[in-house]
Amino acid sequence: VDISFASRSGSNELFHVILLNFLFYILDMCAAPGSKTAQLIEMLHADMNVPFPEGFVIANDIDNKRCYLLVHQAKRLNSPCIMVVNHDASSIPTLQIDNSGRKEVLFYDRILCDVPCSGDGTMRKNIDVWKKWTTQNSLQLHGLQLRIATRGVEQLAEGGRMVYSTCSLNPVENEAVIASLLEKSEGALELADVSSELPGLKWMPGITQWKVMLKDGQWFEAWKDVPSNRQTQIRPTMFPIKDEEKQKAMNLERCIRILPHHQNTGGFFVAVLIKKSPMPWNKRQSKLQRKLSQRTADISVSAAAAEDGAVEIVEEPPAAEDEETKESQHLLTVESEQSKKDGVCGPPPSKKMKLFGFKEDPFVFLSEDDPLFPPIQKFYALDPSFPKMNLLTRTQEGKKRQLYMVSKELRNVLLNNSERMKVINTGIKVWSRNSDGEQFGCAFRLAQEGIYTLYPFINARIINVCIEDVKVLLTQENPFLSKFSSETHKWVKDLAMGSIVLKYEPDPSKPDTLQCPVVLCGWHGKTSLRAFVPKNERLHYLRMMGVEVFKAKRKEEDFESKTEEGDQDNTKHMEEEMDMEHNELATKMEAEVDEEPIHELMESSVIEPENKMENVQPSSENAENRDIADLSSVKA
Ligand SMILES: *[C@@H]1O[C@H](CO)[C@@H](O)[C@H](O)[C@H]1NC(C)=O
Repeated sequence: VDISFASRSGSNELFHVILLNFLFYILDMCAAPGSKTAQLIEMLHADMNVPFPEGFVIANDIDNKRCYLLVHQAKRLNSPCIMVVNHDASSIPTLQIDNSGRKEVLFYDRILCDVPCSGDGTMRKNIDVWKKWTTQNSLQLHGLQLRIATRGVEQLAEGGRMVYSTCSLNPVENEAVIASLLEKSEGALELADVSSELPGLKWMPGITQWKVMLKDGQWFEAWKDVPSNRQTQIRPTMFPIKDEEKQKAMNLERCIRILPHHQNTGGFFVAVLIKKSPMPWNKRQSKLQRKLSQRTADISVSAAAAEDGAVEIVEEPPAAEDEETKESQHLLTVESEQSKKDGVCGPPPSKKMKLFGFKEDPFVFLSEDDPLFPPIQKFYALDPSFPKMNLLTRTQEGKKRQLYMVSKELRNVLLNNSERMKVINTGIKVWSRNSDGEQFGCAFRLAQEGIYTLYPFINARIINVCIEDVKVLLTQENPFLSKFSSETHKWVKDLAMGSIVLKYEPDPSKPDTLQCPVVLCGWHGKTSLRAFVPKNERLHYLRMMGVEVFKAKRKEEDFESKTEEGDQDNTKHMEEEMDMEHNELATKMEAEVDEEPIHELMESSVIEPENKMENVQPSSENAENRDIADLSSVKA
């Protein structure tokens, strides 16, 4: 991958490179506001033709409100492979996954551990950091950072990689955390040498020696010098490892320090950890590792081993098979409490459908014989391979109005962890109930949000449209059939009224037209043909087509209307709000409009995070700074 860091510098490109090549289970521990999460999802969907990529991204944040930023980011990407959860990252629960009827601990192949930090690396952009900086900020965060990172590596699969990052340059928040983690891992973890994966990036190796300073300016070289009345502020894990041999074996120089002048960015710190064996305190987990991760393990370990053999590999003590089983049972503590429910074989009857969610509507999977489904299947001629088991609703009782869909892996996670997970959101909307009811042969119309997932399974009601038709569809609210090309007209004539798919295939012989396929949801009425596409997406497609869009009522767009219904409401007054002409500044527009929603959200999210953690909590300014840094790097 040739990425020019000089021109498109920013931490996001770095993450892209470091995390590239993964396919499976990904955890983003401190994910809000979600720009990196979005990248992770995009990577999963690298192949547009795969409606359900293997694997998923679980995006976590401690702050409930900030979780909705993540939901917003995820919605923009229309992925059935993302789940937003709301936990304290330092105690994020161990999840289970069902592997051919056997419950196993869910280990992640990749973890992004972008911890709360002092944000001192962002001081070129954030004036507040100058005003509020003291060494105390870092000292206060160190413990939390170490706890989060520790929780992360516990849940990492053998051979998996965890990226630890901050936008701070203080070693107390960086090398000290990594060194402590390496030390207590007793060889289970190793720092990866990623230098060859980052061609063109300027950076400085991690440091091995540092001192610790108190707020009042007192320096300490070692833990033994710290007076007892200071031993709550300064902790032993903040100091470099004394033992020179041990320290050398850690290869702290493999940590990456990006200084602001290197690429003209903020300053930040990144370390990539590879897990070679279970953490010493959870040795027994090993037998529960998925076979899948074993495959990854082979690749990554051999790559890491190529460096030097300085790190001692701890042999796992042999243990009797029955003891292993006991241990694994113990690990899944919640399981025993759930054993009653788990005894059920096959899909549970709808009455016993499990409920998920936390202060959220429940997630209820459709039962196999739900009468809702056959008419839908028939109307859209769904392929027999369509995974209807993955359909869910957000209501347990009453009429099902929206049908959502998740990937089969996320279904597995949802079903097997309902008691321990606070799920904020997952799944994409694929069908909506039609207010006009059954008179159109099918009570459910397609939803734009899920159309790219659904489209490969649909074998009926697809109309191929030309680029001019797409323009008409996107700019007019309810155009008469006569406004469309004669081909489209012909196609539609014999088609029953109701929900349709409008498909545009690019024509390579006309290079100045839109060169990517577009799939729109639409409605075939008596005399008209319309697209059911949310306004923001309409604008997006129009910009891609080089049509300039001015909007008078930008401010009125709020979070909901952008992310929720692709309904009539959104498409109302489309024409009033838009004015079109050919656009030479399409790119500029795109940049502006794309960034704006995040900013609006950021502003509305300047809410003090509630102190949900018992221990040290990062100050709200720090948390904000981190996000601003994230955003600025996206913009850059
Ligand atoms: C766990 O997930 C599997 C696979 O998705 C499913 O068959 C099983 O019913 C789930 N277990 C429970 C208790 O729901």
